[in-house]
Amino acid sequence: MTDHHEFETRAIHAGQAPDPLTGAVVPPIYQVSTYKQDGVGGARGGHDYARSINPTRTALEECIADLEGGHRGFAFASGMAAADTLLRTICQPGDHVIIPDDAYGGTYRLYKRILERWGVDHTPVSQLDADAVAAAIQPGRTVALWIETPTNPLLNVADIAALSAIAKAQGVLTIVDNTFASPYLQQPLLLGADVVTHSSTKYLGGHSDVVGGLVVVTDADLAERVYFHQNAMGAIAGPFDAWLVLRGIKTLAVRMERHCDNAEQIVAFLLAHPDVLEVRYPGLESHPGYEIAARQMRRFGGMISFRVRGGEARALEICDRTQIFTLAESLGGVESLIEHPGAMTHASVAGSQLEVPSDLVRLSVGIENVDDLVADIRRAMS
Ligand SMILES: Cc1ncc(COP(=O)(O)O)c(C=O)c1O
Repeated sequence: MTDHHEFETRAIHAGQAPDPLTGAVVPPIYQVSTYKQDGVGGARGGHDYARSINPTRTALEECIADLEGGHRGFAFASGMAAADTLLRTICQPGDHVIIPDDAYGGTYRLYKRILERWGVDHTPVSQLDADAVAAAIQPGRTVALWIETPTNPLLNVADIAALSAIAKAQGVLTIVDNTFASPYLQQPLLLGADVVTHSSTKYLGGHSDVVGGLVVVTDADLAERVYFHQNAMGAIAGPFDAWLVLRGIKTLAVRMERHCDNAEQIVAFLLAHPDVLEVRYPGLESHPGYEIAARQMRRFGGMISFRVRGGEARALEICDRTQIFTLAESLGGVESLIEHPGAMTHASVAGSQLEVPSDLVRLSVGIENVDDLVADIRRAMS
């Protein structure tokens, strides 16, 4: 029904026809574990057991598949559960995956501490260097190229179309973690990627009140295999969590516009501040990935990282001193958050090739009044 409609319309309607029983205009929360069958084998609409199928979850899965331009979507209990289920669907012992050398710490930990033990090997490679990515492909062993763009927390930008083409030529699957951009700003499947993953905990949920993960695939056979693993492994999104993400998605477009507006003004403030050594934001013309970001993203997002004069102690002090920016992990909610990646979200990569600078501060810019936000950062840095 929504094929020819724009993103904002599809975000509100895709997968969400009014409830056939009551006409409820939003999908009800089917808080149920099992369904009455009309005789043995007579499950209504295939509804046999709620790990396998739940109408609230189905609504979210159809919505995200539509927004990402994919064939089928899957909703999980967290972003990590989504990644784990996907990777155990496509990898076998002996297989190899290429990952970004600045991947989200939890993603790196999944590869390093879990998958490695099960015989799945990985190579961290800078995804700014297409030749290095091509050279890291081990014919016959490499099954997937994992892309994250923009990256967490360094906000590096990878060229999805170019890297997908390299992978495709070698029969390697391209997976893009689209958490930082959200499908409103960037649609990797339309650029040639095969699979998209999300931590829906972030912009899709949008209100810091739910943990969830999503996978969207383009290929029907892969979809069947992911579905088998989603059901067999069982890390599904519960109905209330699926409903919260679905509700968040309805306002994604307006929220993202405001996140971007506010972030741009905070970037301008930071650039002019004498104690700021470096601002990392893909919307800056001086950012090495600016041209790629301008090509593959609608706007540049609500995440900013910056390095400060005074090293780690100063970075930690700023994180402690803001009042509106709340000191917390996670990102993508309506409220602004501040954190020190080295000691918080990315502590798990300390000492590895993925370690982040200790004077780095990360902001998740919310949708509050931007003058209040700028004043808060100014005060914390004074
Ligand atoms: C880019 C990225 N991918 C995946 C995840 C993992 O998602 P979750 O925390 O929902 O398991 C995160 C969490 O911060 C993230 O930032």
